[in-house]
Amino acid sequence: MKKTVRDVEVRGKRVLTRCDFNVPMEDGKITNDTRIRAALPTIKYLMENGAKVILMSHLGRPKGEPDHKYSLEPVARRLAELLEHKVVFAQSDVVVDDEVRDAVGVMAEGDVMLLENTRFREEETHNAPNFTQELASLGDLFVNDAFGTAHRAHCSTAGVADFMPAVSGFLIEKEIKFLGEAVEDPARPFVAIMGGAKVSDKILLVEQMMKKVDTVIIGGGMAYTFYKAMGLEIGKSILDEDGIELAASLMKQAEEKGVQLLLPLDTVCADEFSNDAKTCVVDRDAIPADMMGMDIGPKSVEAFGKVIREAGTVVWNGPMGVFEMDNFAAGTKQVAQAVADCQGVTVIGGGDSAAAVEKFGFADQMTHISTGGGASLEFLEGKKLPGVEVLEDK
Ligand code: 3PG
Repeated sequence: MKKTVRDVEVRGKRVLTRCDFNVPMEDGKITNDTRIRAALPTIKYLMENGAKVILMSHLGRPKGEPDHKYSLEPVARRLAELLEHKVVFAQSDVVVDDEVRDAVGVMAEGDVMLLENTRFREEETHNAPNFTQELASLGDLFVNDAFGTAHRAHCSTAGVADFMPAVSGFLIEKEIKFLGEAVEDPARPFVAIMGGAKVSDKILLVEQMMKKVDTVIIGGGMAYTFYKAMGLEIGKSILDEDGIELAASLMKQAEEKGVQLLLPLDTVCADEFSNDAKTCVVDRDAIPADMMGMDIGPKSVEAFGKVIREAGTVVWNGPMGVFEMDNFAAGTKQVAQAVADCQGVTVIGGGDSAAAVEKFGFADQMTHISTGGGASLEFLEGKKLPGVEVLEDK
């Protein structure tokens, strides 16, 4: 168990707090503020308990130099609205400079400041000591609450912990509790739903899950690689060549372990990768040579839905089809509906599946939706997250 903000004195301290404010933006406007909202409990706790709250985050991938399209300024504004409290935005192309240091120097207890995008500095993603020390010079205590970035060993997520006591915020605590308990102590039957395009991206996850679950459901683009491994014709469907052998070995492992592995029974095909494409629904052994699978079909939805609704625990990572296109969203939507109907513990492992659950309006019916895409994947794969490892144990 990691120490949290509750386990240390924060009053009067300069608390360097890493959040994941890497939110989607369009034309300078935040299109989804879930990650900002998810950071509020920790920020409010720190404010209420007299800390000087200095927030850090990255936004996007600005190639290690200032790029104002990735400025955190809009985040500072949104955060101020949500907190109903002033948030000082420490605008600086180099993130830490004398002005920023002076501004920190005059902070009072309960004040909140947000630094500029830490990835404006090339050193950030290399965890380089010089930038780490510059950041560390601003704080007395490090709080990591950036679960979505906890799989990165960067200056602001891991490096600064070498220079001051380091504890977790409430979001990291909550993510680890829900993701951890779901896989370590699951109510049964335990069902994992896996989707996404490539088998090779999800191989570790499927292997890890296979050690714990009763049923693995495979949907999305990677199902076609499994079909190929079964010797089926997949037409123009997405194929992960390198994944064919992996898929065959996963099917064998499932058999040996007595894990039920469910693949889609039918598929919605299209003649091109477009929402306006000509479509047909066929059984999995009848995919036309000139068409591609874009979604799971109604027989699959029914078979998957039955297993999901009766589950004690569901962990879902990856969509069932190209849900961004309305004509190929039904499979993902109906699987989301089945997960919402399930009375057991339901955990959505971030990224696309979280976006799908939100898009279809089921978010408040899930036990937990992770704010981490890559981070929740790595956590579920059983990997250690550097941003969590650096925190002090209780
Ligand atoms: C994410 O959105 O997955 C995190 O914010 C990490 O971003 P990154 O993949 O650019 O490191």
